[in-house]
Amino acid sequence: MTKAKTPFIINETAGTKYYCKCGKSKNLPYCDGSHQGTEVLPFKVEIDVARTVAICSCGQSKNLPFCDGTHKG
Ligand code: FES
Repeated sequence: MTKAKTPFIINETAGTKYYCKCGKSKNLPYCDGSHQGTEVLPFKVEIDVARTVAICSCGQSKNLPFCDGTHKG
């Protein structure tokens, strides 16, 4: 039985964030540049004020890069 993926819960600081879209980053959920050589670009998100965010790790969310609860099946 496989365990459902759950989101990355991050106490995020304000500023511009780049979250991985290609899945190859060694610093998930952040982009580390591993997408280079592909046509995939990271999600660029402006976080206006420091807050807790849930970043999708299952790839099924309809509100990427944020978790929308779809991982619960
Ligand atoms: S981890 Fe929650 S929808 Fe993907």
